[in-house]
Amino acid sequence: MPTLRLLPLGVETPVRTGSSLSDILFPLGVEFPCGGQGTCGGCRVRLLQGELAISPEMRQTLTDEELRAGWRLACCTRVTGDLTLEIEQWTAHVLGDDTHCAFEPRPGCAVAFDVGTTTLAAQLVDLETGAILGVRTALNPQAVLGADIMTRVKAALEQRDGAGRLASLIRGAAGALTADLVRAAGRADLRAVWLCGNTVMHHLFGGVDVEPLSHVPFEPSTLAALRFTPRELGWTLPEQVEVVFLPCIGGFVGSDILAGIAATGIAEREELAALLDLGTNGEIVLGNRHRLLAASTAAGPAFEAGCISMGMRAAEGAITHVYFRDGAFECRVLGGGGPRGICGSGLVSAVARARQTGLIGPGGRFTNGKEWLLADPVRLTQGDIRQLQLAKGAIAAGLRLLLEQWGASLESLHAVYLAGAFGNYVDVTDAWRLGLLEMDPQRVVPAGNAALRGAKLIALNPSARDRWLRDLPSRVVHVSLHTDPRFQDTFVDCLAFPER
Ligand code: FES
Repeated sequence: MPTLRLLPLGVETPVRTGSSLSDILFPLGVEFPCGGQGTCGGCRVRLLQGELAISPEMRQTLTDEELRAGWRLACCTRVTGDLTLEIEQWTAHVLGDDTHCAFEPRPGCAVAFDVGTTTLAAQLVDLETGAILGVRTALNPQAVLGADIMTRVKAALEQRDGAGRLASLIRGAAGALTADLVRAAGRADLRAVWLCGNTVMHHLFGGVDVEPLSHVPFEPSTLAALRFTPRELGWTLPEQVEVVFLPCIGGFVGSDILAGIAATGIAEREELAALLDLGTNGEIVLGNRHRLLAASTAAGPAFEAGCISMGMRAAEGAITHVYFRDGAFECRVLGGGGPRGICGSGLVSAVARARQTGLIGPGGRFTNGKEWLLADPVRLTQGDIRQLQLAKGAIAAGLRLLLEQWGASLESLHAVYLAGAFGNYVDVTDAWRLGLLEMDPQRVVPAGNAALRGAKLIALNPSARDRWLRDLPSRVVHVSLHTDPRFQDTFVDCLAFPER
């Protein structure tokens, strides 16, 4: 039976000769945007070893140069022998971090790892020089069992050996990326792997029971840091390598936020600042060196364009920005070709333009028809606008309530750090126009992959580690918005688009 090897995750599986590649890849989380018609190019894979016949659809959709470089369409081909393929979707744009961090020189190297629900990002750093020796990014392979954290929790609880499969998928991928980083850098002195992620990622990686996270009041089974030997994870690394999943803060506020606090320094300064991670689950931290509050709020998948009728990741063909010039709408499309869909930041930009031009009213309804053909074939429906309102309403309400609890106003916020991919690419002024961000846009700072940067700081600075790993979690007060009776009214108040 031929073997199929899939990169960059290093998944290896035996396959039957003649099986269709799409049947094999679909359960592994590869998407087929045009439903396998061979027209969109979204299922591109690159042939690294072996043979895949070129079909007429491939000749139509791919250029000669792309075909020569080994690109094929997974939806139009069958396996005839051993294959090694690069899956383009798995290497889709994932936010890394190039920041050079402060460090205490000592021998060896370490890996900092951001375990996101959708994407994984890992960096190998030299502990002697602080230099970044390598970067690997990939999609989280757990996506085959669900795109968001609640679906994964459900899969863990309801599917046969769901929790075991989810653990082995993420451990396998993290181990493969780590081994690849070390191998590529030719280093034999790996000291530690520092991982961070939201509470569900923390529990699933560690084999910790996620049942308490499946219902109100969404309490984690444990907040503690999880420590492993490589053997316990099935990793082929020297046994002395320390593997640590950083501690969580509370509820759905995980160690990615803890690392984000370390990276942005908000817990060290006198001025009041906020850290927002705008994903399916929006996490919010508010504080300074005296006091820190944290909360999470279910924003839904709109910021990742997950529930948008023509939503897609920020990959080639995604509308990322919408302009209104000389009486007409113009779209910026990633990759410069024709539009295939719209990503989260593109959605915010489009709706901001629609508000400015009166195409959408303050209540979120189209003023002229039921949908908007933005750039053929990409259209936005009334339901899409509603999803964005729900997401931005949840974030704005969460921050308002934390400020209220603190006894501070929006004006007293010195800085607001936006972490994560959406926060990095969204146009801050457009987010302000829609009421997603209610503070002066000039105080908003895109923080990139703050979680990865925080994990790197923790890897590089052993003397500050206690402060971040032991003191910080105990200093942050977790505020449960689910049980706050004011949340619903505040949320409803935040749904409309302001007049700006
Ligand atoms: S799914 Fe669209 S080309 Fe394959």
